[in-house]
Amino acid sequence: MHAMSENSSKSQAVRGTQDLRGSMASAFRHIDSIASQLSELYRFEELKTPIFEHSEVFHRTLGETSDVVSKETYTFLDRGGDSLTLRPEGTAGAVRAFISNGWTQDLPCRFFYSGPMFRYERPQKGRYRQFHQIGVEALGLNDPSADVESLSLAHDLLLKLGLKNRFKLHINTLGDLESRQNYRKTLVDYFTQHKAKLSQDSLVRLEKNPLRILDSKDPGDREIIKNAPQFSSSLTPQASEFFQQVLSGLKSLEIEYHLDPLLVRGLDYYSHTVFEFITTDLGAQGALLAGGRYDGLVKLMGGGDVSGVGWAAGVERLALMIESQFASQQKPLVAVLAAEDSAINYCQKISHLVRSFGNPVELITSGNMGKKFKRADKIKSQFCVVIGSKEMSSKILTLKNMATGVQIEVGVEGLKKTLES
Ligand code: HAM
Repeated sequence: MHAMSENSSKSQAVRGTQDLRGSMASAFRHIDSIASQLSELYRFEELKTPIFEHSEVFHRTLGETSDVVSKETYTFLDRGGDSLTLRPEGTAGAVRAFISNGWTQDLPCRFFYSGPMFRYERPQKGRYRQFHQIGVEALGLNDPSADVESLSLAHDLLLKLGLKNRFKLHINTLGDLESRQNYRKTLVDYFTQHKAKLSQDSLVRLEKNPLRILDSKDPGDREIIKNAPQFSSSLTPQASEFFQQVLSGLKSLEIEYHLDPLLVRGLDYYSHTVFEFITTDLGAQGALLAGGRYDGLVKLMGGGDVSGVGWAAGVERLALMIESQFASQQKPLVAVLAAEDSAINYCQKISHLVRSFGNPVELITSGNMGKKFKRADKIKSQFCVVIGSKEMSSKILTLKNMATGVQIEVGVEGLKKTLES
């Protein structure tokens, strides 16, 4: 083992990772629980796969030229010399599990998952190196209604999280293989004409995967991309029909969408439908949830000819969106202050009673009264009760509303009603 360096980092979290507490951690749990409840309604069953896989699981599937694989994976040799990769996303692992467990006999399979993912990206608000996804994958369903159901589940989730009017669904089709081959030829012709002005990264993509140039963030590239030929002109009639059926399904469910011909996604396994639910509330990291259809992936990974469609959402991004509204959904917080040590047991009893009403309670016993009140202020308690020998004998409590300063005397039996009013 390496000794820690002089300039020790033992008390620092790794860049791009976060320690979550309080309302952020509660928001995570809330998102997870809403997503798993909804998934059950749509008949998706929970799947837990390992956090690391053999590196090939990701390299062959996500695409060697995709940013995720070429620059962002955490890959290491284990002590046996095997190359392993911390999962950067959930789809490849779910498909690997499907194939290696022989679940091919069991089609269709609908999976829901949730957990940490790892990408070596430049950290900023909404973008981390360890982040969390919730996601779904439906395998063995090759008609457009599966895309519509998957989108409907995503849409329900965002509404259930209270995000109505705070996102937009962008959707596009990447067609079938033949459509993409047609388009590839058209694009290579176009970008070759503008080769002199392309960024270094895009010149490499021009050789390996010209479609990915459309995804470039480089300002110079963006100028050229603006006038690039649109994919719709290369679609085969079958692929076009498939997409029209997805759109008509969305219309019948009254799910609004925005056709976005430049949406290609950063991973290589997609075909037909691709989509992103985008918000403008988080600055640059606007994609809350994204996915699409990946009909060739199972075969590419050594399984049968099984189609797939799914999506994943960034839990940190969703949590940032709901955190403020989430904190205020709790019942009022009550601070119970022991005026003297002999009152502590009675304070415990009152705290226990108030918690049974569903109100959070912090029992404050240490320090002098000044310090105790300071603490009650600091935790922003809405009510405060001070209990000493007088209250113990009279069984009459004084409940102070911290915002208004109004004090109400109330018997123990009347406590619940007073807190609710
Ligand atoms: P993705 O677009 O790479 O797709 O990621 C899905 C979502 O994960 C993003 O929209 C974003 O909310 C979140 N996310 C991605 N990277 C980060 C990061 N570094 N920090 C915070 N959040 C992040 C996939 O992963 C596909 N597996 C989705 C899919 C499932 N397609 C079909 N099935």
